[in-house]
Amino acid sequence: MPKKFVVGNWKLNNNLAESTSLIEEILAQTGSIPEDVHLGVSPSFLFLNKAIDLSGGDLRMSVVAQNVSHFEKGAYTGEVSADMLSSLRLEYCIVGHSERRQYFGESNADIKSKVDLLLQKGISPIVCIGENLAQRKEGSYLAVLIDQIDESLFHLEAHQISNVILAYEPIWAIGTGETATPAQAQEVHKSIRNHLIGKYGGKVAKEIPILYGGSCKPDNAKELFAQNDINGGLIGGASLNATEFLQIANSF
Ligand code: PGA
Repeated sequence: MPKKFVVGNWKLNNNLAESTSLIEEILAQTGSIPEDVHLGVSPSFLFLNKAIDLSGGDLRMSVVAQNVSHFEKGAYTGEVSADMLSSLRLEYCIVGHSERRQYFGESNADIKSKVDLLLQKGISPIVCIGENLAQRKEGSYLAVLIDQIDESLFHLEAHQISNVILAYEPIWAIGTGETATPAQAQEVHKSIRNHLIGKYGGKVAKEIPILYGGSCKPDNAKELFAQNDINGGLIGGASLNATEFLQIANSF
C-alpha cells in the first residue's frame, strides 16, 4: 500500500483524446516527484483500458476506477463489476464518493458490498467518507464519519482492512474552493486513526492510508500533507491539469 498517495478523481470529465493527453502529460513528469509518492489517475470506465496501455507499467502511477457495481454479476444493465475491473488488472477503485451517495442514492450498505466485492478480486477500495455543512456546523461530524466507517468497513477482518484506503472528504469543501484547514483535517484524520486503532490495533491501523480530499490545490497541499495523519490526497478539479496535479504530488 502506498504510504503517500495522490489520486486524481476525474469524475465526469475528459473524453478519449483529453484523457489520453492528460495521462501522457503526467507520465512525462512522474520522474520529478519524490520516490515515495505514488500517483493515481481515474478516467472514465470507457478509457481505463487505454489508460493502462498508455501507462505501460509505469510503477509511479496506477490507473484507478471511479466506481464499481454493488452487484457481483447478472442482469444489471449499465453496471461494471469488480470482476470486470480485475480483468484489467486494476489495483484501486474509489467507492462511496459523496457525489455517488448524493446523486445516486448510495448507502453505507451498498458501499459495504462494493468493498467486499473489490477485496474478493484483489482490488483496494479507496473509501470516501465525509460530512455535510449542516453536520459540520452542528458538531456531529465525527459521529457521522464513525457511522460511515462502522457500517461500511468494520465487518472486515484485520487482513482485509489492511487493503483499504480511506479518503476524508468534507462535502462542504468539495469543488467549493473552501478547504478544511490543516488543523480541521488533522483533527478528523486523527479521530479516524484512533477509531481504527480501537478496532484493529495500532500495528494495522497505522498502516492504513487516510487521504484528504476537498479543494486540495497546489497552494494548500503542502500544509495539509504535513499533518501527521494525512497520507495524501484525493484531488478533483486540480487533477484535471497535469501541472497542478504534479505540483500537489510534489508537496510532500
Ligand atoms: P475537488 O474534489 O478537489 O474538486 O474539491 C475532490 C473530490 O471530490 O474528490
